[in-house]
Amino acid sequence: MDSFDLNSLVRPSVSVMKPYSSARDEFTDFDQEMVFLDANENPFDTGVNRYPDPQQGKLKELLARRKGVSTVNLLLGNGSDEVLDLIFRAFCNPSKDNIISLPPTYGMYKVLCATNDVENREVLLNSDFQPDISAILETVDADTKLIFFCSPNNPTGNLIDPAKIIQVLEQFNGLVVIDEAYIDFAAAESWVSQLSNFPNLIVTQTLSKAYGMAGIRLGLAFASSEIIAILNKIKPPYNVNELTQRSAYDRVAQLDQVDREVDAILDNRERLISALKNIDFVTEIFPSDANFVLARVDNANKRYDQLIQKGIVVRNRSTQPLCENTLRFTVGTSEENIILINALNSI
Ligand SMILES: Cc1ncc(COP(=O)(O)O)c(C=O)c1O
Repeated sequence: MDSFDLNSLVRPSVSVMKPYSSARDEFTDFDQEMVFLDANENPFDTGVNRYPDPQQGKLKELLARRKGVSTVNLLLGNGSDEVLDLIFRAFCNPSKDNIISLPPTYGMYKVLCATNDVENREVLLNSDFQPDISAILETVDADTKLIFFCSPNNPTGNLIDPAKIIQVLEQFNGLVVIDEAYIDFAAAESWVSQLSNFPNLIVTQTLSKAYGMAGIRLGLAFASSEIIAILNKIKPPYNVNELTQRSAYDRVAQLDQVDREVDAILDNRERLISALKNIDFVTEIFPSDANFVLARVDNANKRYDQLIQKGIVVRNRSTQPLCENTLRFTVGTSEENIILINALNSI
């Protein structure tokens, strides 16, 4: 890849814009006792009467240390959905540019194409749920800005073959986004360690899955400092609220607890897979590196409804290409796992 040029990928309006400068951007020494009369806040202390740190300094320092990157390689957002949207808005010119996504995959890439008026070029995964690299590269044209890999992939659960991702990183002059929402459940290293090798790589992660914090909304993007600077320029000033910054900090400071929960989820995943093997209407179980298992059944609508009757909600993925008659089971607690397995056995 000899002609990657980040400046040529950024939307011209983003290139020339000046970011919004907030009151809290101008004064950043939060440890000093000061009288803050700059941001039109209510001065009476509610615990959250002040705007949050727009750069999330304290949380970002901790996350960067934990992930082995510098803070300049990290952007935080209101869930990884916001981070993905910022990537679209920084690089894709509405009504002109296109991106490539690889169904069956996470549905938000398509939604973000629609909301940003960007063409979604879909190149199906093959029957092993791995990408067809020649087909992807043939689909690229001068207006292709982003290619999305989801690894481990949702809803299929498998990791994408790293050798295939490297082929695209090396041959595509746009940006390659690897969505690692489920990486903490996988028997694989994160692509974050490869950032220095690929200037066109963006990795996204989230605290919604392994970290158990879907309710606070915290997503991460890792990339070169140049890419992160562009995303920082367009992000809403206070996109990560004060309560989120505090509770994420407390959780990330206690990684032992997260690790214990991930271990329990992985044990329960294996138990669920063993149980599914004995259910006669389950015809295929797909290998999983995530906290869910995709399984093919004889009749997904019927089995979905039967589970609902028993008070259990799973996800019917049958409308996704290559996923006819599949159900996606999120791995719950041991108790929830037993309830699910008993229900499956009694159907
Ligand atoms: C692959 C993938 N990426 C991103 C997300 C969104 O994560 P967040 O909660 O951080 O917005 C999800 C949520 O299900 C997902 O499955």
